[in-house]
Amino acid sequence: MYRTTHLLLLLCIISIFASGALQLQDAHGGSCIPTERASLLSFKKGITSDRTNLLASWHGQDCCRWRGIRCSNRTGHVVRLHLRTPNLDVYKDPCSFDTLFGEISSSLRSLEYLEHIDLSMNCLSGPNSTFPEFLGSMENLRYLNLTGLAFSGRLPPQLGNLSKMRYLAIGQDRRSEMYSDNITWLTNLHSLKHLSICGVNLSGIDDWPHTLNMIPSLRVVNLHGCSLDNANQSLPYLNLTKLEKLDLSWNEFDHSIEHSWFWKVTSLKHLNLEYTRLFGQFPDALANMTSLQVLDLSLNSNKYLTMTGKLKNLCSLKILDLRQNDISAGVAEMMQGLPECAWTNLQQLIQQKCAL
Ligand SMILES: *[C@@H]1O[C@H](CO)[C@@H](O)[C@H](O)[C@H]1NC(C)=O
Ligand SMILES: *[C@@H]1O[C@H](CO)[C@@H](O)[C@H](O)[C@H]1NC(C)=O
Ligand SMILES: *[C@@H]1O[C@H](CO)[C@@H](O)[C@H](O)[C@H]1NC(C)=O
Ligand SMILES: *[C@@H]1O[C@H](CO)[C@@H](O)[C@H](O)[C@H]1NC(C)=O
Ligand SMILES: *[C@@H]1O[C@H](CO)[C@@H](O)[C@H](O)[C@H]1NC(C)=O
Ligand SMILES: *[C@@H]1O[C@H](CO)[C@@H](O)[C@H](O)[C@H]1NC(C)=O
Ligand SMILES: *[C@@H]1O[C@H](CO)[C@@H](O)[C@H](O)[C@H]1NC(C)=O
Ligand SMILES: *[C@@H]1O[C@H](CO)[C@@H](O)[C@H](O)[C@H]1NC(C)=O
Ligand SMILES: *[C@@H]1O[C@H](CO)[C@@H](O)[C@H](O)[C@H]1NC(C)=O
Repeated sequence: MYRTTHLLLLLCIISIFASGALQLQDAHGGSCIPTERASLLSFKKGITSDRTNLLASWHGQDCCRWRGIRCSNRTGHVVRLHLRTPNLDVYKDPCSFDTLFGEISSSLRSLEYLEHIDLSMNCLSGPNSTFPEFLGSMENLRYLNLTGLAFSGRLPPQLGNLSKMRYLAIGQDRRSEMYSDNITWLTNLHSLKHLSICGVNLSGIDDWPHTLNMIPSLRVVNLHGCSLDNANQSLPYLNLTKLEKLDLSWNEFDHSIEHSWFWKVTSLKHLNLEYTRLFGQFPDALANMTSLQVLDLSLNSNKYLTMTGKLKNLCSLKILDLRQNDISAGVAEMMQGLPECAWTNLQQLIQQKCAL
């Protein structure tokens, strides 16, 4: 008898909690706009495989509570779609892992208040691998991350319509067959802070530093593996005064390092020149790069590269990566060339002959 009362009491408590939860849901219920819910369900139809059950919560009326969705608490419109596969290295191919498979349905187009789309590290390039051009009409987008999706064909200039864009990340290291022969549309993105275009063939575009120089808001630029031909353009005037991170790795420039345009950018903190085949003596301008914390020169063993006496002012230097490099100085000489002010910061001096 005692046990039964106890059980009843427990059941009673559970039901009170349950109805409380129901009331809570009611209070928020209906905040999802039905047409937007329908668009999201169409988008879901384009997903053919979801082995990690990322979309398990995508049912029920209130789409604002679905995983990866956020609605404006002012207008109720869907403003965010965030379904990135977490913890997958950007150099991996998402199609070889348990990610979302399928295509990006153009039904997203009707979610016109979307500000943020992150579908990165999923296998969503569809059967034809064509870039979802309709994204170029979603004018409220501030953030678009499709890193890891291997599209082919031309990078659509329609993206130049997205004038509110702040973060743009596109490309895939290995399988991408995308290209562009003209990126001047980027200069319409007046608020762009972060630009990452990896593995897109930009060969033949000679004025790319000039294009970047027309976007003074840039803080991070990553053009890893873009088949860029050279970096020795001269910029009469530098607008890129906020640029902190520049990654030009895996582009075979094959010219003198001294004549590269980026030595003007004294705000740089991270400079990645891994496998760029740059050679020769570093310029005196290196003395002005006093913010530089990370300098990656690895895998440039093709030709003679020398920095003797050029490191004097690099007080902020934390990492100097010289792996697989025929740098014309031994570690001892290199350490002597480093200013005393850098010794406290320097965490890693990575050199080919170091036993790591
Ligand atoms: C509404 O959204 C803003 C910013 O997105 C947030 O700071 C605020 O706490 C939200 N208000 C409610 C009632 O959820
Ligand atoms: C874009 O997505 C990749 C992979 O998920 C992530 O590593 C990167 O930080 C993201 N970029 C931005 C600007 O958020
Ligand atoms: C893919 O290409 C085929 C034929 O080339 C075409 O019929 C089909 O509509 C395309 N699908 C998409 C999603 O673009
Ligand atoms: C976007 O840009 C293209 C040219 O790049 C233009 O033809 C089009 O009208 C613009 N607007 C929309 C909504 O796509
Ligand atoms: C690139 O496109 C812009 C307009 O979209 C055009 O004015 C310019 O001439 C083009 N540049 C080249 C090198 O074709
Ligand atoms: C990039 O495109 C150029 C010509 O447009 C071509 O010669 C080159 O092989 C391409 N690079 C890669 C890595 O596909
Ligand atoms: C950037 O500098 C160039 C000169 O290299 C100048 O012509 C251009 O107007 C500047 N652009 C912006 C957006 O400030
Ligand atoms: C830049 O380097 C290339 C070799 O990659 C060379 O052909 C070209 O003349 C150089 N341009 C300038 C302006 O120095
Ligand atoms: C360093 O910067 C100063 C001021 O901007 C400039 O006058 C000087 O020419 C620069 N030095 C080198 C070696 O480029």
